[in-house]
Amino acid sequence: MAAAGDTRGGDALTLDDYARLARERLDPGVWDFLEGGAGEERTLAANVAAFDRVRIRPSVLRGVGRPETGTKILGRTWDVPVAIAPIAYHTLAHPDGELATARGTAAVARVPLVVSTFAGCSLERLAAAGGIPLWLQVYCFRDRSTTRGLIERAESAGLEALVVTVDAPHLGRRLRDIRNDFRLPPGIVPANLAGDDFSAPAAHARTAFDPELDWSVVEWLRSVSSLPVLLKGILTAEDAARAVDAGVDGIVVSNHGGRQLDGVPATLEVLPEIAAAVAGRVTVLLDGGIRRGRDVLAALALGADAALLGRPVLHGLAVGGDEGVARVMRILIDELTDAMALSGVRATADAGPALIRL
Ligand SMILES: Cc1cc2nc3c(=O)[nH]c(=O)nc-3n(C[C@H](O)[C@H](O)[C@H](O)COP(=O)(O)O)c2cc1C
Repeated sequence: MAAAGDTRGGDALTLDDYARLARERLDPGVWDFLEGGAGEERTLAANVAAFDRVRIRPSVLRGVGRPETGTKILGRTWDVPVAIAPIAYHTLAHPDGELATARGTAAVARVPLVVSTFAGCSLERLAAAGGIPLWLQVYCFRDRSTTRGLIERAESAGLEALVVTVDAPHLGRRLRDIRNDFRLPPGIVPANLAGDDFSAPAAHARTAFDPELDWSVVEWLRSVSSLPVLLKGILTAEDAARAVDAGVDGIVVSNHGGRQLDGVPATLEVLPEIAAAVAGRVTVLLDGGIRRGRDVLAALALGADAALLGRPVLHGLAVGGDEGVARVMRILIDELTDAMALSGVRATADAGPALIRL
């Protein structure tokens, strides 16, 4: 048993416990940057509320035993249907940044870490550390040669897929950051980019991101890389169908954790229509609001192949470095296994819409 008041997370039993502990440890401006959303944060709240509304319809006497949490995504086996969402600057939460995240994840499960364009650790160092597969999250810059250079480095370092963020022609109106006049603390820089002033993320994005990005980006990506391409930030059946037609390998149903346009739906709300439009033709991932193992089960039941975990990973990192990340993942996996066993779901592929009462 950890001592009372242990701030390293020894008493934490849930991901929400880790959020509370992380808040105590982080500078308030950094906390707001990590935690906040756009506008009045209605979408941010809706992501979590959508999962809170889910009720599970258990099937009894199924002889499940120990559920099988493994799954196959883009031809690779994942130990659990949960990967790590791309989040800029893990170094804000812990000096070892993404390296600690990768180590902590690898200690518990073999699933990918999606490395942000704005990662605080170099792609080569992360790849050399080994442990888990790495994917690259791509922001498309006006200067395509920068984006192309990053993709080429990722490919030669052995990263396995490109997750192109399509909901950010510029950054959303994050009122907490505007009010705080948020600047990255000294020493927090993107390890894989050079040249610009990155200290004010929204201002940098306004000058550097390509505001005219369109569907031709898929063809461009195919011309510069042979890696699988996923589009992150799809919220409608129409765009999902268009992505499939454009030849992508997968989509991420995402509203950027409520950080782009406030007022768009919760990701779980739109998942069924998107899964229906995709009809199994490409991989469907979902992020936004996953805070418990049963949230993962709900996402699988409503049509996702796997989920991405965002802020809770940074909470674990802030509280306990790689061990904190490992504990957050362990909790989530234990809760998922528990939810599967208690609802009569033997394997991830068996979770379908009949499991859910909305
Ligand atoms: C602090 C922070 C930084 C983020 N940075 C990126 C990023 O660099 N690229 C990206 O595509 N998404 C980024 N996201 C969005 C996440 O990938 C993901 O969509 C979101 O966090 C999922 O929601 P959750 O935090 O509720 O799990 C960021 C989110 C947060 C909270």
